[in-house]
Amino acid sequence: MGRLNNKISIVTGGASGIGAAIVREFAQQGATVICGDVQEEMGRQVVADLDGAPGTASFFEVDLRDLDQVRALIDHAVDTHGRLDVMVPNAGLQYEKILTDTSEQEYDHMMAVNMKATFFCCKHAVEAMLKTGGGNIVATASVLSLVAEPSLAAYCATKAGIMNLMKSIATDYGAKGIRANCVCPGYINTPLGDKFFESLPDPEAARREADALHALGRMGEADEVARCVSFLASDEASFVTGSAMVVDGGLSCKV
Ligand SMILES: NC(=O)c1ccc[n+]([C@@H]2O[C@H](COP(=O)([O-])OP(=O)(O)OC[C@H]3O[C@@H](n4cnc5c(N)ncnc54)[C@H](O)[C@@H]3O)[C@@H](O)[C@H]2O)c1
Repeated sequence: MGRLNNKISIVTGGASGIGAAIVREFAQQGATVICGDVQEEMGRQVVADLDGAPGTASFFEVDLRDLDQVRALIDHAVDTHGRLDVMVPNAGLQYEKILTDTSEQEYDHMMAVNMKATFFCCKHAVEAMLKTGGGNIVATASVLSLVAEPSLAAYCATKAGIMNLMKSIATDYGAKGIRANCVCPGYINTPLGDKFFESLPDPEAARREADALHALGRMGEADEVARCVSFLASDEASFVTGSAMVVDGGLSCKV
């Protein structure tokens, strides 16, 4: 028995990085998981690679900037499986920009994917969950929900927003059987992280510096985040709501 046996779940941003690891972990834990992403080929590959897992996975193409498509993603889960148990708003992007260099277009893009799509995924997911007696949400926030890093003003704002959105949902819907939590990863080896390092003059030196920021002396792996999401999504975490689980290898516990 997996800890997510028969849980109908949606993971956004499931085609790559942390999201793909969450899709794999959920399927290994027996969930029926829908991988939602704008990158169709990669998303279908993530799902195809899961042949033989105890759970099942399918792909749903969605551009989260379009709220009609966000609604269609949640409707698809309910229409196909009769309910939605777990929502994981995970998709996100990052512009490495200081406040005064951030354009309106960059701000809007990051807000649309990181914040607005998360808000409306949660809204429609909660509507569906209320009809079937409850469910739970685990969002991918960041250690940058808690502390700031230079040159990431808009990103930090979205991630702090996601963390407090989870606390708001936990507050408003806890008595109706809905839990809402987030994970706050440190530096994780993913394509998003690769893009960040490759934008720097000496990517290898920057990676070594990033390793050293963590008390454990290394960056994390996507699977290490996925296992925490899986715990929070499961009944093992039945008394955990409104929490921000720090999964940062000790990055934020030291100066
Ligand atoms: N990698 C890290 O170090 C790190 C640290 C803390 C938090 N996070 C957060 O983890 C989450 C996943 O990041 P990752 O590192 O796996 O990144 P990633 O770039 O590997 O994956 C992000 C996924 O989101 C999808 N996506 C982006 N825009 C989309 C849109 N408009 N519609 C649908 N899908 C869209 C992408 O296609 C991609 O599959 C993000 O929210 C990120 O902010 C990452």
